[in-house]
Amino acid sequence: MNVAVIHGPNLNLLGVREPDVYGTVTLAEIDERIRALAEALGVEVTICQHNSEGAMIDAIQQAGCEADGIVINPAGYTHTSVAIHDALKAVPVPAIEVHLSNILAREDWRQRSMTAPACAGVIGGLGADSYLLALRGIVALVEAGR
Ligand code: DQA
Repeated sequence: MNVAVIHGPNLNLLGVREPDVYGTVTLAEIDERIRALAEALGVEVTICQHNSEGAMIDAIQQAGCEADGIVINPAGYTHTSVAIHDALKAVPVPAIEVHLSNILAREDWRQRSMTAPACAGVIGGLGADSYLLALRGIVALVEAGR
């Protein structure tokens, strides 16, 4: 099984970006934890980070051809992107949306996710653990569908 993990814009700045909101863990550290869990679960992961919407859409389309499931943090595009929603709907593999922070406890405009309705589930508010739970979730979902 191969799971595509797609990080959205500004997540490359984790560690220094608004540490009061996102903590001090870096993206490299999160990726390390994802890879360790993937190995323990016996699945492969392909991880990427993109700041631009088009590159994220390309990554989703590629995952639709090459992966069995997607874990995605659309970051700022969560709240605005019809195109990422459409890309997630267009591919024949399930996705789980992830957020480090609890977007439902933040600004009004941040509480709405454009992309979540195109996903099988959403996990947020647990920092880096959100990704690890999402990986377990997508693996279970794909296995159940096989
Ligand atoms: C985020 C939440 C988004 O609202 C924000 O734009 C991000 C990160 C999170 O992981 O908590 O960039 O997706």
